[in-house]
Amino acid sequence: MALKSPNKYILAIDQGTLTTRAMLFNHQGFKVSEVERQLRSFAPHAGWMEHDANEIWNAVQQVIATILINTSIQPQNIAGIGITNQRETTVVWDRETGEPIYHAIGWQSQQSASIVQQLITDGCRTQIRDKTGLNINAYFSATKIRWILDHVSGAQERAEKGELLFGTIDSWLTWKLSDGAVHVTDYSNASRTMLFNIHTLQWDQDILQLLNIPSKMLPEVHSSSEVYATTKTFQFYGAEVPIAGICGDQQAALFGQAGFEKGTVKNTYGPGSFIVMNTGDEPQLSQNNLITTIAYGINGHVRYALEGSIFIAGQAIDWLQDNLGMINNAFESREAALASKNDDEVYVVPAFTGLGAPYWDPDARGAVFGLTRGTNRNDFIKATLQSIAYQTKDVIETMQKDTCLAIPKLKADGGASRNTYLMQFQADILNIEVDRAAEEETTALGAAFLAGLAVDYWKDTDELKQVLADGKLFKPAMDTAKRNTLYHGWQNAVAATQSFKP
Ligand code: G3P
Repeated sequence: MALKSPNKYILAIDQGTLTTRAMLFNHQGFKVSEVERQLRSFAPHAGWMEHDANEIWNAVQQVIATILINTSIQPQNIAGIGITNQRETTVVWDRETGEPIYHAIGWQSQQSASIVQQLITDGCRTQIRDKTGLNINAYFSATKIRWILDHVSGAQERAEKGELLFGTIDSWLTWKLSDGAVHVTDYSNASRTMLFNIHTLQWDQDILQLLNIPSKMLPEVHSSSEVYATTKTFQFYGAEVPIAGICGDQQAALFGQAGFEKGTVKNTYGPGSFIVMNTGDEPQLSQNNLITTIAYGINGHVRYALEGSIFIAGQAIDWLQDNLGMINNAFESREAALASKNDDEVYVVPAFTGLGAPYWDPDARGAVFGLTRGTNRNDFIKATLQSIAYQTKDVIETMQKDTCLAIPKLKADGGASRNTYLMQFQADILNIEVDRAAEEETTALGAAFLAGLAVDYWKDTDELKQVLADGKLFKPAMDTAKRNTLYHGWQNAVAATQSFKP
């Protein structure tokens, strides 16, 4: 392929739950450099999860400055910036000073659960679901905003006067990078707030009224691929680099996997696991507890998706390392699983923060089943890895039921997808091929693609498909009887977990 812009790069910023990263991609979609900083989180009470929004902004500035220094690439050689982000996490800040009025409330935080309960008691479940595609839950931004307005003195009044702004992390960063010039978000992030009507593509006035959230606080909603603003900050040494792509991280991963066609399904195996299916031009409401969301908006059209959110995936491997001391690093989990000699009779259900899709059971807590006197460390580690694959199967089966579409292949990416034991077991238990992306960071690549399209760095989605290198294919190799027995055991383990009351 002819190198169109040999000296130009796209900068992707991937602001996640655990880390803030900057990556530079070249025209062949190759990641030429990456810089990462860890992000702290705070849990002042059980079930709460907060970040310092200024720390997030500082980290973004640091990773950008470091990547430019490390690579000696001039800001003038950055054709565009794509932002992708942990979704739902909520920041409210002062329009004048740019100071957040409270910590960013993280997506996992349940601190607004009582507001959710009130909405359910008031009979709003169906209305909210029909308009937003979401199951009422503290996971989404709406009740987090309400919580901040309730708990910060004078906040409601200031919000009504137009002195406060709300944004998910993409909005916060675009506002900061543009020095307050724009207050925007994209369709994919807006669809995670529980305030956005996914049919009319507008903020929903009825829901805003229900929650008494002033619309003056809300960002303008744009497509996921366009020039929103240019940078005005010192790291760019005066260069005005276009901020040209915004997309929530899970939808960005679908884009980075070239999941442009209806029916494409991907799973990003990160701290949580998020399975997203492109459902095309029409929103499809799930009959089985999946979420309907916007995948991305591009060239005046939005694409919809069904999503199954699994709250604990890679974090279960961290748990083996940090809490149980069973492994020194994630790589050891593969060796241990391969060394296990048992017949997969152990089940770990990692419901540490409840169970996500398709169960949506916030009260469930983790459990282990099937231990014998002979169970050893390797068996325990293997069962923990298998739990990620079983949870994925729960969601894929539900997607098949909802859409009546056969899913012939699952595209995989994210950190835990590097674990070949997990990928093979995933293919075996699903009985479909698992196609692991060559580039693990498809989330950042998706944001880079969206930005690159907006600034003509890449021409169209056909060109993007050619940019993607071939991944690794894992083919199912487990016999049907064994697969059915194992999955039946998992379903029993989940049912027992849900019925357990301390
Ligand atoms: O919905 C939450 C999701 O966007 C978080 O992603 O990878 O930062 O944990 P991650």
